[in-house]
Amino acid sequence: MSVHVIDHPLVQHKLTLMRKKEASTNSFRRLLNELAMLMTYEVTRDVPMQEVEIDTPMETMTARMIDGKKLVFVSILRAGTGILDGMLSVVPGARVGHIGLYRDPKTLTAVEYYFKMPQDMHERDVVVVDPMLATGNSAIAAVERLKELRPKSIKFVCLLTCPEGVRAMQSAHPDVPIYTAAIDRELNDHGYILPGLGDAGDRMFGTK
Ligand code: URA
Repeated sequence: MSVHVIDHPLVQHKLTLMRKKEASTNSFRRLLNELAMLMTYEVTRDVPMQEVEIDTPMETMTARMIDGKKLVFVSILRAGTGILDGMLSVVPGARVGHIGLYRDPKTLTAVEYYFKMPQDMHERDVVVVDPMLATGNSAIAAVERLKELRPKSIKFVCLLTCPEGVRAMQSAHPDVPIYTAAIDRELNDHGYILPGLGDAGDRMFGTK
């Protein structure tokens, strides 16, 4: 399926500022928030609209609105939270789901520790968010789990990915389009993206 690299100058400029190792926690978080808002513009380009009748000061008209309640943003904990805030500021009517996964040190597989979704998922369009699509293990497991609920559609949004992450995700879920600001050079042996921006969770929460 498709990979959409959002190559807009504003997105690329802000991503460059975030990559810099000297960016403070405060500016990293603010930039992530702004980037998420800008990326949402592309991600929601084809969402279903509904017609509503409204009164302008001049007359009555039929106008179009997004049915935000049918959209669900699903954050993969914990780093997904950073993207979620920006997306919700431009689509405040969206519902929100959370999925928590950790990597089992013995089997290296993703183990679910938290899963909370809105009702009626089969009626909803889902956007899964996680800033870094690296090995793809957690994104693949999250999408697998969500597919059990049979949503109308699933998209995956990240800030950064690499060829290994894109390949893994596309082979596991070819029907899920990926939206990203950049596809970096490679994944290192520790599962980090190069040149990347380091550990997104630690940088946005100041935990290192
Ligand atoms: N997760 C991160 O936070 N950074 C990476 O480079 C890869 C995975």
